[in-house]
Amino acid sequence: MPAIIVLGAQWGDEGKGKATDQLGQNTDYVVKFNGGNNAGHTVVIDGEKYALHLLPAGILSEGVTPIIGNGVVVDLEVLFDELHEMTSRGVDCSRLLISSNAHIIPSYNRLMDQANERARGKNQIGTTGRGIGPTYADKMNRIGLRIQDLFDPESLSFKVEAALAPKNEIFTAVGMDPLDPALVTAELLSYAERVRPMVCDVSLVVNEALDRGSTVLFEGGQATMLDIDHGTYPFVTSSNPTAGGALTGSGVGPTRIDRVVGVAKAYTTRVGEGPFPTELDNEVGEALRLKGGEFGVTTGRARRTGWFDAVVMRYATRINGLTDICLTKLDVLTGYDTIPVCVAYEVDGVRTEEMPVDQKGFTQALPVYEELPGWSEDISECRSFEELPDAARAYIARLEELSGCRIQSIGVGAGREATIVRYPLI
Ligand code: GDP
Ligand code: IMO
Ligand code: MG
Repeated sequence: MPAIIVLGAQWGDEGKGKATDQLGQNTDYVVKFNGGNNAGHTVVIDGEKYALHLLPAGILSEGVTPIIGNGVVVDLEVLFDELHEMTSRGVDCSRLLISSNAHIIPSYNRLMDQANERARGKNQIGTTGRGIGPTYADKMNRIGLRIQDLFDPESLSFKVEAALAPKNEIFTAVGMDPLDPALVTAELLSYAERVRPMVCDVSLVVNEALDRGSTVLFEGGQATMLDIDHGTYPFVTSSNPTAGGALTGSGVGPTRIDRVVGVAKAYTTRVGEGPFPTELDNEVGEALRLKGGEFGVTTGRARRTGWFDAVVMRYATRINGLTDICLTKLDVLTGYDTIPVCVAYEVDGVRTEEMPVDQKGFTQALPVYEELPGWSEDISECRSFEELPDAARAYIARLEELSGCRIQSIGVGAGREATIVRYPLI
């Protein structure tokens, strides 16, 4: 029984929620390993839409045990709001487990996120404002608060005081109100007894499950190009959404992983600031945004749009050791005479098929396009590769060739059923 990592291959919002849900229907465990409620993962079941932020999308599959791993940062207010929303919609959340080592997003880090963005002025990152960066910074700075701290009030109070003191100075300096550490501590403690039954050693639970032959999916938030190490720094998130992050974020070794699935759109989108070589900052891009419904699930922001970038995809294949690509939103590309695909970049007049070594090169990269024939037939009802028009099949074949990885499944609509599975994984 396999252990499968599902992660974003581009700049996020590729359809990881749908992919996890689709694969997760025959899965025993779904482990979220990075990020927090900066994510917005959509699943559509029988026409009903679910938007998940902190909870793994696998929570929607019957019989699955959803797990929040140690690599996740947890906003407790959001956790219980989302649990309440899902439970009231009839979703069974009773099996949810959460790592005792996961870090907590305290309210002051939401404010820090906003203060930091304000201070960056025109160099702002366009974060989701959820306190993600400051919480991971506290973790690295070893002044973070962990889930297990909720069960030691004295030590929690001490930690909050120590972490908050320098932040209050910043809040005051930028004209924001300082926070009272006693109130922050009391708010956090108010969640303790509700969290307690969910707390576990995620590494132990997952490794024992794998020993028993259970199927485990690891669901990534964000994406390869937003990775703190491998993404378009500083326009990135503050975690490792790549395959390595699935291991450190859940306490599982690399030898236990069977497949690594990169989810990618048949074109490209990005939310927030930062370089994007194939961006269509024009009416073609606007039309693609409307056609693809490219508006953020978390912040509602319009997503920037552009053509498929095979340099990015090859990079994602390499960084993550992808075994499979789950290609989404092919249906959105119906109706173009030809579809440009970026096969290389031109940097300072020189053609390169690899990611430029430095960020400056990437920022200046001009896309080199190959025009592939389009198709006009509605493909949303296709359920096998053979049913797709010739040009759509040729598009897939060329993307596979350029990406250096097989395309395992093809999305032709937002619904759970609107997927062409070429190679079943479970
Ligand atoms: P995630 O963050 O990677 O889970 O992706 P989001 O949920 O933020 O954004 C993906 C959007 O595309 C959602 O609205 C999905 O319902 C939708 N979607 C996913 N796969 C497909 C597909 O194959 N076709 C279409 N038309 N929509 C899709
Ligand atoms: P899912 O899981 C798309 C982007 C933000 C910003 C940058 C840093 O739905 O694919 P952060 O709040 O993480 O410090 O913001 O990363 N970003 C995402 N973009 N999808 C996401 O998640 C994202 N999570 C963060 O827009 O540019
Ligand atoms: Mg999303």
